[in-house]
Amino acid sequence: MKKSSFITAFLVFMASVLASHGAVGNFYRDVSKTFGDQRVQISEGGRQLSLSLDQQSGSGFQSNSEYWFGRFDMKMKLAPGNSAGTVTTFYLSSQGPGHSEIDFEFLGNASGQPYTCHTNVFALGKGGKEQQFHLWFDPTAAFHTYSIVWNPQRIIFLVDNIQIRVFNNHEAHGVAFPKDKPMKVYCSFWEASDWATQGGRLKIDWANAPFKVYYRDFNANACIHNKSSACHRIGTDSISESMISGQEWRTQGLDGKGRNRIRWVQNKFMVYNYCSDLARFPQGVPSECKRPRF
Ligand SMILES: *[C@@H]1O[C@H](CO)[C@@H](O)[C@H](O)[C@H]1NC(C)=O
Ligand SMILES: *[C@@H]1O[C@H](CO)[C@@H](O)[C@H](O)[C@H]1NC(C)=O
Repeated sequence: MKKSSFITAFLVFMASVLASHGAVGNFYRDVSKTFGDQRVQISEGGRQLSLSLDQQSGSGFQSNSEYWFGRFDMKMKLAPGNSAGTVTTFYLSSQGPGHSEIDFEFLGNASGQPYTCHTNVFALGKGGKEQQFHLWFDPTAAFHTYSIVWNPQRIIFLVDNIQIRVFNNHEAHGVAFPKDKPMKVYCSFWEASDWATQGGRLKIDWANAPFKVYYRDFNANACIHNKSSACHRIGTDSISESMISGQEWRTQGLDGKGRNRIRWVQNKFMVYNYCSDLARFPQGVPSECKRPRF
């Protein structure tokens, strides 16, 4: 083989490796503890992180980088057994007034009762766009991948790469959309007995403490916000931009198959949709609820 064709073959091989596996982040390098002291533990050379919750405190961490659009994947294994009163989060948020936020929150439940996967979007400091789901698997039995795609056209929430929710940019119709500020990734594990489980009726049982959740394989395939506004992804610093594939998130939407999957999820597993909560909006539901759903 000629040297140049060998190099070409090698580059094609590298690009396919990157495309199929993505770049896996490292918790030692990519995140910092926000609270909880020794309740935040990193293991497996930076591949896994655990958060625990006891009567003194919960715990949390945030990404070191700020991002302006991207795809964010986190594998999570939630606290098993009686997790009533606990909240486990994975979300994006900006800082300061008029903040942006894109949330995944997992509300614990009594043993054998389903966790609720709660989603919300804040723009210009205003949220109130909740959709909640039960999951089609036990999120405490194994790791599952939870993802947020954030591009200028829409936000997509995915579970094991299945779209569960799309929030389109309807700025043209006067609906605020989070795109004016960079955001960091945040994860936390804390107690919210007063509202989390069955409307606050089930409180946390400290006899089960310490509660523990696991995070793995954080991947930010995203624009890193930095004064030079370079856009690259974690874990690939030494690889040139042209070799990085897996940038579908920039324009990702729903094709026919995606629309069928999301209909399946929303028909079978959605347990709350602010757009259907007429009692909450006696003057009429927010205007984005009247636009096409996907
Ligand atoms: C807990 O289980 C109940 C009963 O199955 C269910 O209605 C509720 O949505 C579940 N989740 C939470 C967070 O309460
Ligand atoms: C910003 O990005 C450039 C190009 O990737 C890099 O050389 C520089 O170190 C980054 N600056 C910061 C503060 O991260």
